[in-house]
Amino acid sequence: MHSGRYIILKKYINEKFPHITHGGDYNPDQWQDCPEILSEDMRLMKLANCNEMTLGIFAWTALEPEEGKYDFSFMDKAIDDIYKAGGRVVLATPSAARPAWLAKKYPEVLRVRNDGVRIHFGERHNHCYTSEVYREKVREIDRKIAERYKDHPALIAWHISNEISGECFCPKCQAAFREWLKKKYGTLERLNKTWWTSFWSHTYTDWEQIEAPSPLGETCTHGLTLDWKRFVTEQSTDFMNVEIAALKEFTPDIPVTTNYMNFYEGLDYRVMSKSLDFISNDLYSDWQGDERVDIEVAKDAAMCHDLMRTLKGKPFMLMESTPSMVNWKGVNKPKRPGVHELSEMQAVAHGADAVQYFQWRKSRGCSEKFHGAVVDHVGHENTRVFREVSRLGERLKKLDDIVGTLTEAKAAILYDWVNDWALKDARAFHPWDKKLMKTVKSFYSPLWENGIDTDIIGVEDSFEKYRLIIAPMMYSISEGLAEKLEGFVKQGGILLATYMTGMVDENDLCYLGGLPCGRLKEVFGIWNEEIDSLFPEEKNRVLLKDGTAVTAVDYCEVIHADKAEVLATYDSDYYKGMPAATVNKYGDGKAYYIAFRDTGEYTDMTVKALLGEAGICSGFDGELPQGVTAHTRTDGEKTFVFLQNFSYSPKSVKTEKEWRVFETGEKLTGEFEIEPLQTIIIYEP
Ligand code: GAL
Repeated sequence: MHSGRYIILKKYINEKFPHITHGGDYNPDQWQDCPEILSEDMRLMKLANCNEMTLGIFAWTALEPEEGKYDFSFMDKAIDDIYKAGGRVVLATPSAARPAWLAKKYPEVLRVRNDGVRIHFGERHNHCYTSEVYREKVREIDRKIAERYKDHPALIAWHISNEISGECFCPKCQAAFREWLKKKYGTLERLNKTWWTSFWSHTYTDWEQIEAPSPLGETCTHGLTLDWKRFVTEQSTDFMNVEIAALKEFTPDIPVTTNYMNFYEGLDYRVMSKSLDFISNDLYSDWQGDERVDIEVAKDAAMCHDLMRTLKGKPFMLMESTPSMVNWKGVNKPKRPGVHELSEMQAVAHGADAVQYFQWRKSRGCSEKFHGAVVDHVGHENTRVFREVSRLGERLKKLDDIVGTLTEAKAAILYDWVNDWALKDARAFHPWDKKLMKTVKSFYSPLWENGIDTDIIGVEDSFEKYRLIIAPMMYSISEGLAEKLEGFVKQGGILLATYMTGMVDENDLCYLGGLPCGRLKEVFGIWNEEIDSLFPEEKNRVLLKDGTAVTAVDYCEVIHADKAEVLATYDSDYYKGMPAATVNKYGDGKAYYIAFRDTGEYTDMTVKALLGEAGICSGFDGELPQGVTAHTRTDGEKTFVFLQNFSYSPKSVKTEKEWRVFETGEKLTGEFEIEPLQTIIIYEP
């Protein structure tokens, strides 16, 4: 199952434009009375080595100043000018912010908060996604745009709306939710049973009694909360599909995307992704110029990129990032010199075929006037930021061979949105912060440090190509998933799970008959009896077989090793001497269980040992010093290794192999140095 190499073909975002796109959000609609600025933009675009502009994201009023009256003059000119200057465009649908006339005339398009108050006109990302009027108005403008630009040679992709997010609690959404529930459950009896509504006498006797969760109403029926979140994802996707259909009617071959926000908890991106041709993402990492902090930032960023690549198993677009700083963090620091190239090359290393920015030019007014941009208010190219963007663009131009290449990860981390929602909702353990993402990251960290390509998979993904699956805090496990995990181990896979595994099913109903659920007890060879939540300052010690002691914090699960081998035991409290970590041989594979949260040390050593056991190595053969990592992309024949130094000092690495530097052809072997913040792309000739 886990052996043998398969030939992979390249997968492109757009086969007609097989280059790294480099550009970003461009708002010529804000500069209509400044033609000199618009023509300067074209000169600067070439100077910045940009080949793409994303247009029209918030341009609805410019395009339709009055209901049914359209004016495409600014867009016509912008697209033509960009094309003449050698660029391409990603065209957005403008649904993320509506014209004032529209909100005034049709107040139902405005979202209702969970306390029942309808918002006023303003801001953005706040429309009702059920409103028929809004759907119709969006469909009309989208069709007009698609019809007009369908044959324009500059058009390479559609960008649906912007950062789809949030919830609407209006009567239309509530009614749609009830319809969704009727379809799902058929009878109220089934719904009541699944949601366990006899608790506190919350049984529904009429569909009309059901309302979305709200702090003014129901928050304790966890099945309701989970279904509401599923509904929000599906309804948002349905809205997005209305937009996609409007575009595809005219341009069936132009790929569509919408820009995601990393591990944004409000929407299950795996569900949404089924409607998209490719994935794109907005990432604004918190680079601080402090090596210790930035290495952690690099890991977070890498994990987000890996998720985006895994969602469709193909290259993605980094749709937005900042060339310098943002304007919405506690402290808004420009990226230090050199960090820009490093951070954007990191996206490419993890599978991005696009490096794009918010924003091309700083606006003069409103809330984003001080947000970083390629072109500053000064208006010319003589800025540090512009020079760094331009230098990076020069480099990206030479990476055509890398476009479309894929990553063959043998290690995967399981992250599931439903599990995240259920875990957050559980009133137990540390109710207000169970630190799922922190835990996921703690397992990702040693993979990154050891230069291991890693996929971030979901419960519906195939497990077959992986040798190691790490499943941190998988509290919610359906029977189907339990079987799938069992199958993975049986057939030779190595599975690593932690405390809280398999406590509830996909409806948040507790499993009866012992934990972890179902056959996972046999797979891990353990039984989890109870869990001790530790106070913030409280610690326990865990002793490993060789006598080493590591620290336990937050959670100590009290487990019994029925069949499993004990790898570590607790050193104090009433569960002193009981197992804290185990391994069980099952079928052809092994299942590891870590029953406590550690401070990092044990996680690191376990992951490292399991990589060895699973025979998973880095794409680079040498030791990786602190802050240096390696990730790969391959076309099936040639594998490109991206060696990146995230530290602020030079690092030396050693290799036994003979490498070639991709961009220069130079040979690299033995011991060599990587400059601070440098990315070297190498391959074996
Ligand atoms: C993104 C958004 C952009 C811009 C940017 C600022 O979330 O999509 O329109 O506001 O943030 O960092």
